[in-house]
Amino acid sequence: MSDKTSSSATDGERVSPSPEFRKQATVKSMAEYKRLYAESVTNPEKFWNAQAKELLQWRKPWKKTLEWKEPQAKWFVGGKLNVCENCVDRHLGTPRENKAALIFEGEPGDQQTLTYKQLHVEVCKFANVLESLGVKKGDRIAIYMPMTCEAVVAMLASARIGAVHTVIFGGFSSESIKDRVNDCQAKIVVTADGGWRRGSVVPLKQNVNKAVTGCPTVTNVVVVKRIGNRVSMKPGRDVWYHTLMHDASHKHTAKAFDAESPLFILYTSGSTGKPKGVLHTSGGYLMHTTITSKYVFDLKESDTYWCTADIGWITGHSYVTYGILSNGATNVIYEGAPNFPDVDRFWDIVERHRVTIFYTAPTAIRAFMKWGDKHIKKHDLSSLRLLGSVGEPINPEAWKWYHKTIGGGRCPIVDTWWQTETGGIMITTLPGAAYSKPGSAGLPFFGVVPKVFDDDGNEVRKGKNGKLVLTSPWPGMLRGLYGDKKRYKETYWSEYKGVYFCGDGCKQDKDGYFWIVGRIDDVLNVSGHRIGTAEVESALVGHSGVAEAAVVGRPDELKGSAVVCFVTLKEGVRQSDAVRTELRNHVGEVIGAVAKPDEIRFAQALPKTRSGKIMRRLLKDIAAGKEIHQDTTTLEDIKVVKQLQEQG
Ligand code: WTA
Repeated sequence: MSDKTSSSATDGERVSPSPEFRKQATVKSMAEYKRLYAESVTNPEKFWNAQAKELLQWRKPWKKTLEWKEPQAKWFVGGKLNVCENCVDRHLGTPRENKAALIFEGEPGDQQTLTYKQLHVEVCKFANVLESLGVKKGDRIAIYMPMTCEAVVAMLASARIGAVHTVIFGGFSSESIKDRVNDCQAKIVVTADGGWRRGSVVPLKQNVNKAVTGCPTVTNVVVVKRIGNRVSMKPGRDVWYHTLMHDASHKHTAKAFDAESPLFILYTSGSTGKPKGVLHTSGGYLMHTTITSKYVFDLKESDTYWCTADIGWITGHSYVTYGILSNGATNVIYEGAPNFPDVDRFWDIVERHRVTIFYTAPTAIRAFMKWGDKHIKKHDLSSLRLLGSVGEPINPEAWKWYHKTIGGGRCPIVDTWWQTETGGIMITTLPGAAYSKPGSAGLPFFGVVPKVFDDDGNEVRKGKNGKLVLTSPWPGMLRGLYGDKKRYKETYWSEYKGVYFCGDGCKQDKDGYFWIVGRIDDVLNVSGHRIGTAEVESALVGHSGVAEAAVVGRPDELKGSAVVCFVTLKEGVRQSDAVRTELRNHVGEVIGAVAKPDEIRFAQALPKTRSGKIMRRLLKDIAAGKEIHQDTTTLEDIKVVKQLQEQG
C-alpha cells in the first residue's frame, strides 16, 4: 500500500510510491531525480548529448547538440538517423525480435499480433509500396485510419523513407480532411474501407472520396480492407493495400536522414482561424519521446503497455508509435469504444493481455466512475503496475478513484502535462522518485524549465495563479507551423519576449508542484480534445440560416468542457428544435463529431460591448448558469441576456 501523508490543504495531499515500486524503478529517489534534473538544466547540451548517444541509434554523429536562435531550435545538428530504424530494425537480432511489438484488438474482438520481426517485414513492404507510388523524401502523406496495425505501419513506413505524415483523426469530417490535405499538399492518402465504432462502421473511405475530389495534389488513395464492405474505388487513383503489399518486397534499405528533417505535421486547434499544422522533426522528437517513455512510464523489457489514445492525436504519435516502439516494449492497440459491447471492455482487455502500464484521459476515468465499480470488480487487474493520465487536468476525486479502483492502491499515477506542440511529456512526477499530489501534474521533466508569469511577464509568487511558460528549448519542441512562420511566432512567442507561451493557466505550489488550471485562450478541452471556438463559430456561420454565432465552453463533469453555442438566425428562419439538430449536424459535418455542440441557444442579437465585440465572458457565465454581474447597460443587452438565460 502507498504511504499517505497529508500536508496543508493548499498544497494538496501526497501519495508516495510503494517501497516495492521504488526498488525496481529506473529513478528511485527524489535525490536522484533532483541530481539528474539539475544536470539537465545546468548543462543541457552535455545532458542531451549523453542521452542521445545512449538511447538512440545514429548513422552519423551530430556536430552541435543545440543551435538556438529564438524561436527556432535545431537539435543534434549535422547528425543523421532513421526514425523507423530506431523503432523497429534495431530490435532485430536481439532477444526482442520475437516478442510482440503490437497486439491489436479490433472492436468486434478480432486480434492480430506482430512481433518486431513481423512488424519489420510489414514496414519494409509498405515503404516499398510508398516508393513505388512515387513518394519521395519530404513528400507529405495523409493517414486517415482506424486504430489498427496498418495505421502504425503506415506512419513508420513514411518515416522510413523520409516522407512526412499527417495523421487525420478518423472522427474528422471530409471537409476537415480536405483542409488538411490541401494545406500540406499531400500526395497520398492512406485510409480503410471503414473502422468499427460502437458496432457501426465509420465510413472512412466515403469521407475520403468526398474530400479528395477537392484535393488536386492527391495522386493515389491506398485502402486497407478492414470491414470488407463495398466501397467505391476510383480506377487509376484508388488502390487496395493488400494488393500492393502482396506484390511488395520485404527488403528495404533505410536511408539516413538529417536529425532536423521533418517527421510529421499534426493539425491542432488554436484560438483563431483554422487548425494549424504543428511541425515536428526527427532526432529531437524521437529523443524526447524515447526518454520520457523510458523514465515516466518506467518502461521495462517485460512490460505490456497500453495507451488508449488514437493515433490521430499527439498522444498516439508519441506514446503509441514512436516513444514506445523505440524502447522495444509490447504495445497494445484497440480499435473501438470503451463501452462496446459493454462498459467493461477496457478492463477485459487489461485482464486478457495482462497489461502492466495503462495510459488514458481523465474524461474516460470519469466515465468509468459513473458507470460503476461493479464492472471493474469483475476483472483481474493485478497485472497493472503503473497508471497514467493525459489531456486535461484530473480532478482529485477522479485521481483517487483511479488510484484505488483501477490501481488497487499499489500503482503510482503519472499525471502528464504536455501539448501537441511540446512533442512529449513536460511536467509529471517520475513514478519511483516523487510523491504525487492528486490534481497536480507535478514537476518538470529533464531539461524543461516551466515558470508561471503574470500579464506583465513577471514571475508570480508560489501559490498564485498565472500563465504557464517554458523558458528554454527542449528536444521535442515544435519546429514551426507548416508554411506559416508568422503565425508560429505570433501564437507562441509574442505573449512574452523570449519564452514559449502555451495557453494554459497554472500555479506552482511551495513544493514546486505545478497545478494546471486549464486553457486560458479560446481553445476548449472537450473530452481531452482541443476544439477552437473560432472553428465552431466559423462552421455555424457557414450555415445558410445563421447570421451570427458565438461559442463558449461550459464546465462539464464528464467532458471537462461542453460546447455551448449562442446563435442568431437570419430573417425568416424560425427558431426550433429542428434547426438546433440541423446546426449540430452541420458542425459535425464541417469539423467532425468531436466538435458537435452540446447546447445551442438562440437570440435576436448577441450581447456586445460598445465597440461591438461579443461579450464572451458574459456568455460563459450565462452558459454556466451563473448570476450576471457584468455591466450590461444597453436595453437591448438586457433583453438579449434574459432571452439567453431562459433557454438554460
Ligand atoms: C491540456 C495533449 C492538465 C492542456 C497531450 C494543454 C493537460 C492541452 C494535461 C494540450 C494534464 C494536457 N493536466 N492539462 N496532464 N495534459 N492538458 O495538444 O490544456 O491535445 O494545453 O495535447 O491539453 O492538448 P493537446
